Amino acid sequence: MAFAITILTLSGAVSSRAGETLLERGAYLMNGIVACGNCHNTRGPKGRFVEGMELAGGLVVAEEPFTARVPNITPDMATGIGAWSEAEIITAIREGTRPDGSLIGPPMPFSQYRNMSDNDVKAIVAYLRQVPAVTHKVE
Ligand code: HEC
Repeated sequence: MAFAITILTLSGAVSSRAGETLLERGAYLMNGIVACGNCHNTRGPKGRFVEGMELAGGLVVAEEPFTARVPNITPDMATGIGAWSEAEIITAIREGTRPDGSLIGPPMPFSQYRNMSDNDVKAIVAYLRQVPAVTHKVE
């Protein structure tokens, strides 16, 4: 019995650090392994991130056979994803579809995010919700 409890405690410690909040987990993932900002941050001259425009989009990915423009995923209501529910954002990340059912194109690597745990994907949504809303329309 004591052995079983030790195993449970250990596996809990691996999935998230003790006392870590959902937002802390989200920040850890976003600033490391999932790196949504590599594509979704707005970039200026020489490809540098533009300050104050975290996740505000605009990067153009021009690769045959299509050109994709990376959308604004800040909580802005009109030009970002502020109006999307948590469930809708989770579906976009893991399944690659928008609330209207349309497909999100392949430069968005949802196939790599498909097996993300519920806790991790919720942590990412928690992070996305607190990023400053930026009004930035991406065509
Ligand atoms: C390799 C580049 C790349 C990475 C990394 C990436 N995305 Fe994307 N994302 C895109 C592109 C490109 C599109 C638009 C595709 C299209 O137009 O069909 C997109 C679309 C989206 C959309 C749909 C938004 C809309 O308004 O239609 C959401 C939401 C989104 N990404 C969230 C995320 C999140 C959250 C992460 C990190 C977990 C992430 N993306 C990582 C490239 C990326």
